[in-house]
This record gives sequence, structure tokens and C-alpha cells, in this order.
Amino acid sequence: MCGIIGYCGPKPAANVLVEGLRRLEYRGYDSAGISVLKEGNLTVFKKKGKINDLKSILPDHINGKSGIGHTRWATHGEVNDINAHPHTDVSGRIAIVHNGIIENFTSLREKLVEEGSEFKSETDSEVIAHLISSLYDGDLERSVKQAVQLLKGTYGIIVMHADEPGLLVGARNGSPLVLGVGDGEMFLASDVTAIIAHTKQVIYIEDGEVVRITADDYATTDLKDRPVDKKIEFISWELEEIEKEGYSHFMEKEILEQPESIRRGMQGRIDLEFATGHLGGLNMTSQELINIERVKIIAAGTSFHAGMVAAYLLESIARLPATAELASELRYRNPIVERNTVYFAVSQSGETADTLYAMRELQRKGARVLGVCNVVGSTIPRESDGGVYIHSGPEIAVASTKAFTSQLTAFYLFSLIMARMRHMGTDTGLSFIKNLESVPERVAEIIDRRDQLLALARKYSGAKDFLFLGRGINYPVALEGALKLKEISYIHAEGYSAAEIKHGPIALINETTPSMFLVPEDSLRDKVITSMKEVKARRGPVIALAVDGDQEIAGIADDVFYVPQSHELTYPFLMVVPLQLFSYYCALELGRNVDQPRNLAKSVTVE
Ligand code: M6R
Repeated sequence: MCGIIGYCGPKPAANVLVEGLRRLEYRGYDSAGISVLKEGNLTVFKKKGKINDLKSILPDHINGKSGIGHTRWATHGEVNDINAHPHTDVSGRIAIVHNGIIENFTSLREKLVEEGSEFKSETDSEVIAHLISSLYDGDLERSVKQAVQLLKGTYGIIVMHADEPGLLVGARNGSPLVLGVGDGEMFLASDVTAIIAHTKQVIYIEDGEVVRITADDYATTDLKDRPVDKKIEFISWELEEIEKEGYSHFMEKEILEQPESIRRGMQGRIDLEFATGHLGGLNMTSQELINIERVKIIAAGTSFHAGMVAAYLLESIARLPATAELASELRYRNPIVERNTVYFAVSQSGETADTLYAMRELQRKGARVLGVCNVVGSTIPRESDGGVYIHSGPEIAVASTKAFTSQLTAFYLFSLIMARMRHMGTDTGLSFIKNLESVPERVAEIIDRRDQLLALARKYSGAKDFLFLGRGINYPVALEGALKLKEISYIHAEGYSAAEIKHGPIALINETTPSMFLVPEDSLRDKVITSMKEVKARRGPVIALAVDGDQEIAGIADDVFYVPQSHELTYPFLMVVPLQLFSYYCALELGRNVDQPRNLAKSVTVE
């Protein structure tokens, strides 16, 4: 989704902005622009395409010391130079960048046009510039405050005015905004990756707050002009973590990092003495935990698939009723909040609008919602009633990989805690821990075998359609495999329970539609084999993910990728990694933009 950045300081603003926009590229975008205050006037440069396209129209030296920048992910109006941000008012003295959606822009626009504003773009965002202009009386901060009170929808905005040089004003409702506090320089941005190269001291701006920055100072207030005291927080991520460090793509780096990221997610969270887990951030006493009668998990995309695995696991080992639901659907069905139910909002970014709004809806109804998030300081963990940081480190590629296995890690620990409280004995607890602790090593073995997945990708990446089939705890992994393949390779892929193919999808099977079967050694193995045979009988090509030593599968499938033997409940970790690599290699074969696939955004901050 859109990324925004603002800078005030001694450096040439254009350079800082363009570098910041580069770091925001991962969010997904289709055009970019900057505005810099130079010799009393605003200069605006914006261009459809990538940051390099924007750079190609920038003069060699732009001396301005303050400015704003934007990467646009189109919602209102097609992708072109005019619809790109920043947008200016009629006088050209006010410029704004906006992340979010203004729902009442049509009525505001009509009114402003009647009053003489001339709009250049088709965007909802441009209305903000004209609105502020219509209210401006020499005090930018005041007019921003007045303007945002007339907006309906979501926004993270940064505004500048040529008559108030060296000042930027930011405001937030529903879209993230962070203030970076530097030494003699200040930043505003939609996320910390844009500014981490300059400062690690940040202040998270909340909904309803307005922030003003100059090079040396900042102030945060609410819409009624009351000062809001904010705490400076320290970002623990290192700059190297958001760089490729020699890998071809962030996705490759992030897949290969998984042995380490899974290990990190367990660190300090295993209590061998009592054979349980320890998740202090849940903010729940043992009494409160034992009183949980039901768990409901809400999420979107890959995080939803992790939630589905978690629900299966919680029921299986903790005997605790658990379900996972798409956050976007839950929000609009007037959910019933039951007593003694704990909700989890799962989100890598912690900013996904569907998940965030569903969480707020649940909280309004009195639910306790815990976050399972990666990005420290993001909105979901800040607004949740407790939770778990998954600590997978920055995930930059649009396709989520290491966050999935880290989300699983967090839920495996939570399930262990609940199981041990409810009925699981110490010995079983210890053996569960042993199995979980062996996962990173087994994932590393899979990574060592990745050349075989490259060969499979070469063989199958020409397919137009793909099926991914699994059962039980691996059924959500099949869904995840299909999502991964379609989002980065654009090959049409569907995930199903292997049992379901005979209820419809088998009609798709022919010589050119491969099926990827997940066949771990578990109680459903034989059932999956039956489905495989049904596909083979219809001449469908079959690839199987099976367990070392399972020769029977080799006799049925056209190709087999073997994963190391493990405990049956840990196979989701071992099945998903080959699927991630397979998708990655297919996308490479097809020459796709792996890290920034078309039409997608990393952090989906609009509904
Ligand atoms: O940041 P979140 O985990 O809340 O994001 C949810 C989905 O948008 C995300 O998982 C998306 O499906 C990924 N692109 C999948 O790889």
C-alpha cells in the first residue's frame, strides 16, 4: 500500500526522500513522487512506475532541506503521473501525501469545486490539499486539524506549506504514521524501514493525533490542541536486516533465514523445568489462562493459514475448541463474543486493515484480543490486550514466508502452555518441546536439498493451473502453497483438502494440470494416497512431498520431494518450506518480479 515520508533537516531533502521511498518499495506501489521546498516555492516531481523512473526526472541538485515523498498503490484513479502524489492545492503552495482512503471525498470535492477549487487528479487524496487550503489562515497546523475533522475514512498524511518553510505537519487516523527523532533532523514515515538508516528513535503517532516537526523540534497534540505526551521508543532492527545482503531477492533471503527465525521465536520461551512454554506478553494469569474455554483466531492471507494450523493444533493437543476465521468476514457479520473466549489477531505487519478493524469490533463488544505480530510497535500489538511478538525479523518480500513459520512457532508454544495446564503430562510436554526444538535443524536440511525444488520448478513452471492438496493439519499448508504460487508466479493455483477433490476439483484434472500432494507420515497418509491415485488414474501429473524413506509414494507420484522424518504435528513447518522454495523458483523461471509481484502490497492498510 502507499508509503509516505517527510524530512526536515540539514541534508538535501530530495536525497533523503528518494532513499526512504526505496526502502518503502517493498510495500508495493505503482508510482512515486516527492515535493521539496526550494527558495520559497514547492517543487513537485512525480512519475508513474518505479523509483528509478522518478529519479530519471529529478534534476541533479535539488537543494531544499524539507520535503515529503510518496509511493502510490492505486485505489482511486488509474496509474499515471497526475494521480501520483504529492498533490497540491490551486495555489501550488500546499502539498500533501496521503496513505489511506477518504470515503467522503466526492461530497467534499463537489463543495470545494463550487468554491473555486480546480482538481487535477482522479484521486480521493487531492481533496485533502484543497480542503486544507480552503481553511488556511497562516497556521498550517491549525488548518490541518480543522481539515481532518471533516474527513471520513482513513489517513496518514504529511503536509507542507511554502509559506511555513521547514515545517511539516502529520496526522493519523487508521493508517500508520511514525515520527523519527534524529540529531538536528526529524522524519515522518508510514513505517520505520523508511528512516531506520537515519535514526532508531521513534514515536508512534496514534489515531486522532497531529504531529508537527521542524529540524530541531517536534510536538504532538490531539485535534483539540491538547498536548499529548509521547514516549520515544527504540527500534531494535538493524539496517542490514532490511537489506538483501548478497541474496538475489528478499524472498530468497527470508526463506533461507527460517532455521534461525524459528529458533529465535522460541528463545527464552521454553521452560524445561515444567515442560511448558512461557509467553509473558499474553498479560494473562494462570487463572485466566485455565479459564479459557474457546480460542478464535482472526487474520488474512498467509497469517490466516497459520491461524488455521494453530486452531487444529490447539484442539488436538490442548483439547481446546479453536477456530480460525477471515478477519474481513468476521467484522461484518456482527460477531457474537462469548464468555471465556480468547481471540488472537494474527498479522505479520500488525497493520492489516481487515484484521485491525475486526479486532476493534471485537474489543468494542468486550472481547479480549491478543496480537500475534512481527512488526514491533505496529498498530495491532499496540491496541491489543497482550500478545506475542514472533521476532522473525523484518520481512520485506511481499510474499510472506518466515513470518508464517514464526507465527506457527508462537502458536505451538501457546498450545503447549494450554495443553500442559489442561491435561498434558510432563513427559509428553518434554517430548513436544524436543520435537519443536528439532524443527530448525530439519528446515535447514530441506534448504540444503533445494536444488531438487529448482529442478521441479523447471519441469512444472509452464503449467497454467495447479492444485495443492493436503489433509488435517497440513490442509492449511496446501492453501498456503497455492497462495504462494499464485501471488509470485501468477500461475493459477487452488488449495484443497485432498478429500475434497472428488467433490468438484477433480474435473480440472488432465495431463497438463499438476497436483502437489502433501503426504506426511500421519494418520491421514493412506487417505491422501487414495486421492493421489484418483488423480493419477485421470493422467494428472502428481508431485508429492513425502517423508524420507516413504518408497510407496515414489511408486505413485511422478516426482517426490522428501522431507526429514519428524513428529506428525510438526510437518506444517517441513511441508511449507519446500512449497515456498518451489514457488520462488517457478517465479524465477517465469521472470517475475519476485519481491514485488504485480498488484500486491506488503501491508494492506485499506479495506
Ligand atoms: O501483515 P499481515 O500478516 O496481516 O498480512 C496479511 C496478508 O495480507 C498477507 O499474508 C498476504 O496474504 C501475503 N502477501 C501472503 O504472502
